[in-house]
Amino acid sequence: MERALASVDRGLDPERVEELYLATLGFSGWQLGNSSAIAVEELGRPGLPSVRVENACASGGYALRMAVDAVASGRRDLVLVVGVEKMTDVSNARRRYWLGVSGDTEWERLAGLTFAGVYGLMAARYAAEYGPVREALSEVAVKNHANGALNPNAHFQKGVSREQATNAPTVAAPLGLYDCCPVSDGAAALLVAAPSVAHEYTDSPVYVVGSGAGSDALAIQARASMTRIDASRRAADEAFRRAPFDRKQVQLLEVHDCFTIAELLALEDLGMTPRGTAGRLTLSGATRIGGRLPVNPDGGLKAKGHPIGATGVSQAYEVFLQLRGQAGARQVGGAERALTHNVGGSGASAAVHLFSVSAT
Ligand code: COA
Repeated sequence: MERALASVDRGLDPERVEELYLATLGFSGWQLGNSSAIAVEELGRPGLPSVRVENACASGGYALRMAVDAVASGRRDLVLVVGVEKMTDVSNARRRYWLGVSGDTEWERLAGLTFAGVYGLMAARYAAEYGPVREALSEVAVKNHANGALNPNAHFQKGVSREQATNAPTVAAPLGLYDCCPVSDGAAALLVAAPSVAHEYTDSPVYVVGSGAGSDALAIQARASMTRIDASRRAADEAFRRAPFDRKQVQLLEVHDCFTIAELLALEDLGMTPRGTAGRLTLSGATRIGGRLPVNPDGGLKAKGHPIGATGVSQAYEVFLQLRGQAGARQVGGAERALTHNVGGSGASAAVHLFSVSAT
């Protein structure tokens, strides 16, 4: 919290904050009730209205959406969004249990299916429908690890080779170790301000110009397809409906790559490339920093890490840095329009936001 407050360009008096949204799953059962009260205490503002937002791995994206709504409606001028998860201080058995709590209990969890297992099924089905995908999955891992190596806040700051990614131990076939996000601790914060007050804090604000959300059945067998996440498509459609730019004008994406197959699905679900072509697009180098459509310059969930409640918030933070030209070695040249995409579990919920350096 201290670092977040100190990083506001012209400083932030906590007295000015009007409301706080805390994104967290409450991994391992820590402070499931009233956890947002701790966040406002930490801010030095006990008494401030605050609420915990929980939509599994999409908690951060939904907390941002609620803050944007609070400001856009005119109800608030200054809202703080905080995402946090502490995941590593539990036993392996407890960790496995808590990694599963956002999945379908009746059909998936009781049958022993983990999230890696669900995404493994999606990857296998994708290969059956569109052809071999192993090389493209490895390229996602190589790219995101290379990007993470440029991010001082990333969980993994080391590259991996295509051979390492392809020959890694299997976690849930066809997914190997480097196809999976790690289990991480982390936190991120955002200050959402009305345009009328934003200039009190900075000369270079980043505008949220689109917000969308969607949902779908919790269990994959209840969904229309295993090679799409319809919640993402619904969220993207809503975000673009009133946005001042269209899909072709997006210059940078932060997508929810909890497993490498999820990055390919995201590119198709968001409408950035036709069905079955995300692998080819990735192998062409287009999604690397310096490519035509950079994806996950911060390393993505794969390398930056996936502290569940923090993830959606940290995606927006990366976009904030990128659009202000402050991303250092991983800067995407000239980026002015960006998209964030945050998915809950294996696709039961999704939130998409669009950002721009200008309000229109
Ligand atoms: N990618 C790359 N390397 C990883 C890694 C990952 N996802 N997870 C662990 N490692 C590395 C560790 O750094 C460690 O390396 P070291 O020996 O050089 O120190 C080594 O692998 C063993 O780490 P460990 O923590 O014992 O691995 P694990 O076998 O217990 O866990 C996974 C590996 C893939 C099972 C675990 O990271 C996981 O469950 N990931 C998915 C999390 C998830 O489902 N999140 C919700 C998504 S919807």
